Amino acid sequence: MRILAVSGSLRRDSHNTRLLRAAAELLPSGVDLELYDGLKQIPPFDEDDEAAPSAEVQTWREAIEAADAILFATPEYNSSIPGQLKTALDWASRPSREAALRNKPTAVIGASMSMFGAVWAQAELRKVLGASGARVIDAELPVSTAHEAITEDGTLADAETEQALQVILDDLVALARGRELERVAA
Ligand code: FNR
Repeated sequence: MRILAVSGSLRRDSHNTRLLRAAAELLPSGVDLELYDGLKQIPPFDEDDEAAPSAEVQTWREAIEAADAILFATPEYNSSIPGQLKTALDWASRPSREAALRNKPTAVIGASMSMFGAVWAQAELRKVLGASGARVIDAELPVSTAHEAITEDGTLADAETEQALQVILDDLVALARGRELERVAA
């Protein structure tokens, strides 16, 4: 099973990208996590470009289609999700009947340096994913004071946070396995 990991932060030392690395360590054997590194290259969404989307958009859609599930880690920018992440999701939500995100198992976690752990951004992201037709785990992982909660090599300082992340990952893997079974039965 392959999980695509998408960090909403583009910066090199992102706490959210580190959080995804921590998640990779908690997955059961046989489940691989691949970090998507092309978010910055995705162009602005323009309906006029939909007939012939750029190679970067196609690569993004193919990465989603090839994955059994997607794990997003989002920062919070002004109480919402970063604009570039929204742009990427808009591309992946169209054309709506064959959208890459349609029925895709997804989960959302997030980290911020404040006390709130990107909790509003995570709610926004679940809303956008739901509107795009994805299946979204109804849970959040607000990692607050991220500069203390996540080490540079991507381990979580707090056992409770790690346990909460483990529950979300287990649910995501179960959702993806269920979808696999549905496809085999169809
Ligand atoms: C922020 N940050 C922030 N934090 C928060 O808890 N709520 C917020 O609304 C915002 N707003 C905000 C806007 C903008 C434009 C920036 C650049 C930052 C702080 C943010 O959570 C912090 O920079 C995180 O470290 C970003 O995540 P990464 O890049 O470390 O993954």
